[in-house]
Formats: sequence, C-alpha cells, structure tokens
Amino acid sequence: MGKPTDSNVLETVPSLENERARQYDFIQKARIYVNALEKQLSHKPLCFVQTFGCQMNARDSEKLAGILLQIGYEMTDAEEDADFVIYNTCTVRDNANQRVYGRLGYLGSMKKKKPHLKIALCGCMMQEQAVIDKIRKSYRFVDLIFGTHNIFKFAELIVTMFENGKSNGGMIVDIWQETDQIVEDLPISRKYPYKSGINIMFGCNNFCSYCIVPYVRGRERSRKPEEILAEIEKLAADGVVEIMLLGQNVNSYGKNLETPITFAQLLQEIEKIEGIRRIRFMTSHPKDLSDELINVMKNSQKICRHLHLPLQSGSDAILKQMNRRYTKADYLALVEKIKTAMPDIAITTDIIVGFPGETTKDVEETIDVVRKVQYDNAFTFIYSKRTGTPAAAMDNQVPEELVKENFDKLLRIVQDTAKERALLLQGQVMEALVEDLNEQDPSLVTGRLSNNMLVHFKGDASYIGKLMKVSLDGCHGFYYTGHRLDE
Ligand code: 5AD
Ligand code: SF4
Repeated sequence: MGKPTDSNVLETVPSLENERARQYDFIQKARIYVNALEKQLSHKPLCFVQTFGCQMNARDSEKLAGILLQIGYEMTDAEEDADFVIYNTCTVRDNANQRVYGRLGYLGSMKKKKPHLKIALCGCMMQEQAVIDKIRKSYRFVDLIFGTHNIFKFAELIVTMFENGKSNGGMIVDIWQETDQIVEDLPISRKYPYKSGINIMFGCNNFCSYCIVPYVRGRERSRKPEEILAEIEKLAADGVVEIMLLGQNVNSYGKNLETPITFAQLLQEIEKIEGIRRIRFMTSHPKDLSDELINVMKNSQKICRHLHLPLQSGSDAILKQMNRRYTKADYLALVEKIKTAMPDIAITTDIIVGFPGETTKDVEETIDVVRKVQYDNAFTFIYSKRTGTPAAAMDNQVPEELVKENFDKLLRIVQDTAKERALLLQGQVMEALVEDLNEQDPSLVTGRLSNNMLVHFKGDASYIGKLMKVSLDGCHGFYYTGHRLDE
C-alpha cells in the first residue's frame, strides 16, 4: 500500500447504543494493547496489508487500514518489517488461492524469527470451509481469520486476538455465513487523496454457474442512498474529485431498499455534489442495464465515458449454461444502443475461456462478438473450477490443451482490436486526471482519461490530483504519450 491519508479521525466516542458505537469502543480498547506493544518494541508497531483480487477488496483494505491507523499502527510497504501482517484474500479463481498458500509458507518462517508477529487472514477465500480446514491443519501459526460479512468487527477481533495472546489461546476464527447488517461510518484510510471507491451495494444474487461470489459475498443488499451521498459529500470536502461506485451488479442497485431507487436515479443525485468532477462505476450486468441509465450517462457532464460490460461468452449455448440470462443478439443490440447514444464511449469486458462443454465453435462466436463490439480492453480468463458452484459439477470439462489454444487465439484478437481502438484517439485532446509520477521516468506524470486509458506527459508532483487537458501525441497500444495544453 502507498502512504494512506488519514480521514475520519476519531474525535469523540459515541455512546454504546448500536454496533458502530460498540466498534468505536473496541478501537479504544485495541489502542491500549497497541500502546503496550509500542513500549515493548520501542517503536510504533508496523502493519502490512496485502490485497488480492478486485476493487471491492481494495476498498475493504482501506477499511482495515482505517482501523489499524486509529489503534496506533503505522503502515509499511515492507512485509519483512511488519509486526502485523494481514492478507485480504480473493477466491474468484484458484490461482488467487494458490498465491495465498505460497505466501503463508513464507510468513510461517518469518514468525519463527519474530514470535511477536501477528498474522490475520480475511476476505472471500476465508468464506470457504475447505480453506479454513486447510489453514487449521497446515498453517497453525495464523492468529486470526475472519470473512467478508464481519469486516466491520476488525477492531473487536484485534482485541480478542491480543487477549487470546495473553492466555496463549489458539487461532481465532470468526466466519459468518450471511448478514443483512451494514455498519456505516467506521474509519477508512484512503490510498489516494484525490480518488476513492465507494461501496453502493454488497453481495450478488445472479448465481452465474461458474462464479463463487454469491457464496462468499452473500445476497445482494444496497446501502441507503442518503448514506452513500453523505459519504461522497464528505469525500468531496476532503479533496476527492473522482469516485468509483462499487457493486457486483450496480444496475440492480436499490431494488431491495424500503424506498426503492434506481441506479440511474442515484447517479443523478451524485452528479449534483459539488467538487466531484468524475464518476465511474463497476460492474454492470448486461441483463440489467437500463435505457434510463444510458440516458443519464449520455446527458451527464461527470459520468466517465467508460462501461465495463462483462460478456463472458459469445455463444448462446454457453451463455445459457452460464446462467447469464442474455443471448449474443441481446448483448450486441445493447452495445449498439449504447454506442448510438454515446459514440465516444469506451467499452471493456470480461471473457472466460474453457467453460465446461465449450467447443472451438463456441469460441468463434465469442471472437465474433469481440470483432463486432471492438472492445477498448478485455480481460480474458481461463475457466477455473470453483467447488460448490453448479459448473464445477458439470462432467464435460474442457481439456487443458484446447483451452490454452483457444485462449491464446482470443487474446491475440482482443489485443489487436484494442490497439486499433486506441489508435483512433491519437492526435486528439482529452482531459486527464493526473494519478502519479511515472515509475520509470519521474519527469513524467501519468494521467487517466475519461475512457480509462492512461497518458504519460511532462509534469511534476504538483500535478497529482488535477484534471488537465492533454494532447494524445503517440499511441503505444494500452497507453498514450502526450503533452499538456492548458499551461
Ligand atoms: N473462472 C474464471 N473466471 C471467472 N470469473 C468469475 N468466476 C470465474 C471462474 N470460475 C471472471 C468473470 C468475472 C470476473 C471478475 O472474473 O469473467 O466477470
Ligand atoms: Fe459472479 Fe455473475 Fe455475480 Fe458477477 S454477476 S459476481 S460473475 S455471479
């Protein structure tokens, strides 16, 4: 993690009347333990948080960091220096799980050299019983495990972990299967001062047959619009100019609220907030993307010209087996409608290769969609069997070699089309939000365009967080080089 900004500093302790207040009380208690540790170590205890997976997890890690800073830890980017290591895990594909196990081996040897080291694991992977069983058996040095539903209890769990340490107790495992509780307004430490993710909903009801998310993140539940708007207003007052609204399927936002509201209506309310210059969101499910949303996007000055619209497959037979609830024709018609309304929109997607029963002919259908849509970028994934999902029980798994062959073919086409799309903007002038100094050449800065592409141009650290007009002089596939115009 980079240097976090310390927002939402605890000033008063609320009365113990609800869960939020309870957690603030645990923050105070945890401080006493961390303080004692600081005396013992003769320096501020250091904490390392590693995020695996998606933007949702990245936002959760900011919540973890918010608590850690409040109770007296300092963040470090050097895992080997840490006194507390936390892995916020992902389980959407098996390689994410394997990376965690690999890193745990290393942590075990670290703990032998540094017995006071505390280790916590959380996130989606921890919602799987088989994972918990394996950690209990093979990685007994882990101190604390919690899941996706009770992350708000982090301060309380840290207190339990320290109390446990005093009595030499074993591993603490606190996993909830489901929750409808959303605890608002706990500390959050943002990674970037000028942009922020915001959860608008949690969980997913779609049950795509390959996907483990509904099992590990639970049923769909939306945050109240007033909570979301208040959070964004606070962010804007704190200097945030770009927000990313996060949900597994933002297009079904608001359906389960007492007073239902559509995602498009929420966007219109957010648009009114002064100081917010750019609004992004992800992810959209094609089956739920409404005309109302297209219209609101089209007329908006702030909503970025980018839609992430996962295709998964272009074959009707596979889409049916995937339980995606749209056909190739539905998808293409939707894209046509979006492009007619907003000719300058960038469309990106996710595609899975090797779903059970997929033939080369099915992959040809996917390639046909890629050619017709002309994606600005596409994330291609090899199908990963997730235990407990309907697809894992399908008996027609595709041989690895065929998957690899189809995957390579698709990837080449996806990259070629993305390059062609990128070339179309060469020579144009666009607004970029400067995100950072360029890692390779610090005389350059890196800015993000409305369409989510990157541009590198001459500048310095004072540009960071500002919106600037940039001429896109050179196109290099997935990024541009350019120069600033409004100096
Ligand atoms: N195997 C491969 N890719 C998957 N995704 C979700 N589940 C799986 C799986 N079992 C991909 C989908 C989704 C993205 C976040 O991850 O493409 O859109
Ligand atoms: Fe998974 Fe489908 Fe839900 Fe996306 S919409 S999280 S792919 S089940």
